[in-house]
Amino acid sequence: MPEINVTEHLLLNQKRTPMARGRLTHLLNQLILSFKIISREVSKAGLVDVLGFTGEINVQGEEVKKLDEFSNDVLIHRMSRAGVLCAMASEENESIIEIPKGFPTGDYVLIFDPLDGSSNIEANINIGTIFSILRRKSSADGDCEMSDLLQQGVEQVAAGYCIYGSSTMLVMTTGSGVHGFTLDPSVGEFLLSHPDLKIPERGKIYSINEGYTSYWDDATKEVVNWFKDPSANDLGKPYSSRYIGSLVADFHRTLLYGGIFLYPSDRRDPKKPKGKLRLLSEANPLAMVVEQSWGLATDGADRILEVEPSELHQRVPLVIGSPHEVEIVRNIYKKHGY
Ligand code: AHG
Ligand code: MN
Ligand code: MN
Repeated sequence: MPEINVTEHLLLNQKRTPMARGRLTHLLNQLILSFKIISREVSKAGLVDVLGFTGEINVQGEEVKKLDEFSNDVLIHRMSRAGVLCAMASEENESIIEIPKGFPTGDYVLIFDPLDGSSNIEANINIGTIFSILRRKSSADGDCEMSDLLQQGVEQVAAGYCIYGSSTMLVMTTGSGVHGFTLDPSVGEFLLSHPDLKIPERGKIYSINEGYTSYWDDATKEVVNWFKDPSANDLGKPYSSRYIGSLVADFHRTLLYGGIFLYPSDRRDPKKPKGKLRLLSEANPLAMVVEQSWGLATDGADRILEVEPSELHQRVPLVIGSPHEVEIVRNIYKKHGY
């Protein structure tokens, strides 16, 4: 397979009008540069921590920023200058991120989780960046409005994630399938390594934090029991349980191997009755990726991409993965009146 990078792949495979394709390609190239900078910092983080921890100084001679703050700063700095956005939103920022006055703007909106799974970095466990790209709805001559951010997931024009692990890999879709690009540090390019990814129709792995069992409702307990009890499921043996605790890593494994990831609502935190994951910066982008790879994503019963957002940091229960398992779960929740 001739090594082609993201830009060449977009040019070769996009049905989009050339104009939009150019701006979207530029947006993605600026995002990709951000991922390279974050990837470099992630690979150094352990070193910096060790030096900063024992030697009372850090290797940069400056105060070490928490990695998610660093990632957030890189994305906001770089994407503010991309010249194609009218606004951004980040999981780390309470409200809409305006493009500074005097900077060129455009018709796209970017929403992101700058570093997902950041509690895992000290253990050298995979983390990642998740992104969602939409077109503004408000008129181009005015400022971007909150309504430009609060759009249903079906409106996304592109979405994906960059996972920082044994290698750095970008998995994304612009509506024409899902493609994986692996960073070749020797040339500094993301090269096409996983063309046209399709999730297996069914799998043998379920992924959920069973530490919260006592906080689940009966429907969720029945769902999880289906995967554990061979007499209940149609696999004839228990599904394997895998839970990394980084959504990007648990999702990436599910996309490649099949099976299901669940983060249901629970009674743990009355302030978060809908669970922990965010609709706009986590569930929607991964739902677009999984549907483009012939998988499914629901809140248990209903399609994630059709959830109507009402606030920027809205949480949503997430059930995502192979169609076979997601449908089984949907039927159990429907039986319980969801
Ligand atoms: P983030 O680091 O962006 O806050 O996301 C962490 C999320 C997600 O990555 C993962 O699936 C989930 O937290 C794990 O939560 P629990 O520790 O409650 O299982
Ligand atoms: Mn996250
Ligand atoms: Mn995060």
